[in-house]
Amino acid sequence: MSSVNKGDSTVANHRKSFRPNSEGKVLLVILGVLVALGGGIATLMYPSASNQGYAPDQPIPFSHKLHAGQYKVACTYCHTGVEKSKHATIPSLNVCMNCHSVVKTDSPYIKKIRESFAAGKPVEWVRVHELPDFVYFPHKRHVAKGVACQTCHGEVQTMDKVYQATPMNMGWCMECHRGKTTPRNVVAEISKINPHVNDPSYRHKPIASVQCAACHH
Ligand code: HEC
Ligand code: HEC
Ligand code: HEC
Ligand code: HEC
Ligand code: HEC
Repeated sequence: MSSVNKGDSTVANHRKSFRPNSEGKVLLVILGVLVALGGGIATLMYPSASNQGYAPDQPIPFSHKLHAGQYKVACTYCHTGVEKSKHATIPSLNVCMNCHSVVKTDSPYIKKIRESFAAGKPVEWVRVHELPDFVYFPHKRHVAKGVACQTCHGEVQTMDKVYQATPMNMGWCMECHRGKTTPRNVVAEISKINPHVNDPSYRHKPIASVQCAACHH
């Protein structure tokens, strides 16, 4: 499927900024107190790096703005796994060929796609989003409760080149699971099964699991 190339140097640089020097330590303590006041104990104990903004070049400049925006091709037409499995999946070239066997065949990029397809060679797309191996993230569970792709990935249908729009670190996952940043439509969906989430006295109670084992097993 997609090749794994996270631009290690970028990741390393991000991590470095969390290595405390003496000033950094003071800053971390202050930051920690603020975070703790906000109720983010786990976030305080486990600060983590983020690849927000990461936007690698792709072997073929595939544009979501053109396909998903202008031509309104549904996300699920290409990312077929997203409603039924853990992975969203990247489409194989036969999906592209559904259109490009006739559309824009004179383009050098489409020629490259056609040749790779004929040779049975997949395009080596560079991964944009990737959580560490010790994190479990199921797409299906989120999509089933009405969390929009854009809540986590930003306005992909306006992007010529996909970039990581949100932090996707533990604190970010937790804020939504705790009910603090949960979109209204998702709260409404969950309240069908658990009416308490719409009770005002229940505010900021978890709408999804905050148990360590839910995301780490
Ligand atoms: C539903 C039809 C459809 C599918 C499926 C589709 N495309 Fe396209 N694609 C288009 C249309 C329409 C254009 C714009 C053609 C034009 O500018 O005349 C386009 C343009 C492009 C271009 C720009 C070509 C150029 O030189 O201007 C690239 C690259 C491209 N598509 C790649 C892909 C890839 C890779 C896939 C599979 C992941 C794919 N397309 C799947 C319809 C599709
Ligand atoms: C015509 C096929 C097509 C459609 C429609 C499409 N995508 Fe994609 N998507 C791709 C391809 C091919 C890639 C890999 C290349 C890239 O990252 O640009 C990709 C990559 C992505 C990525 C980055 C994956 C990674 O490496 O982490 C996200 C997120 C994404 N798409 C979300 C969406 C969303 C949301 C929509 C609907 C608004 C959508 N896509 C519609 C083909 C498509
Ligand atoms: C709750 C947040 C969230 C929602 C909602 C979400 N994604 Fe993702 N997506 C992620 C995370 C986190 C990753 C990285 C997963 C990993 O590395 O294991 C990811 C990865 C991806 C990838 C890379 C391939 C893969 O399967 O890992 C694609 C493509 C993608 N998402 C498309 C979509 C589309 C399309 C939708 C909407 C139908 C969507 N996502 C909804 C958080 C989300
Ligand atoms: C915008 C809100 C939102 C974000 C952000 C989010 N989630 Fe979720 N998560 C949900 C909802 C809603 C559910 C479904 C709860 C249900 O089915 O009742 C869920 C369910 C889950 C489950 C299944 C829990 C169980 O009880 O089995 C896991 C695992 C999970 N999320 C992991 C993650 C991880 C990891 C991240 C960050 C990378 C993340 N989530 C980010 C809203 C979110
Ligand atoms: C809703 C999902 C979720 C829950 C619940 C969760 N985590 Fe995490 N955790 C993550 C994600 C995502 C990362 C990866 C963060 C990154 O790489 O930026 C992570 C990273 C970590 C790390 C590595 C820290 C680092 O700096 O990379 C530790 C340790 C950790 N979690 C412990 C815990 C403990 C202990 C709990 C229970 C109190 C817990 N987690 C609950 C999602 C979760």
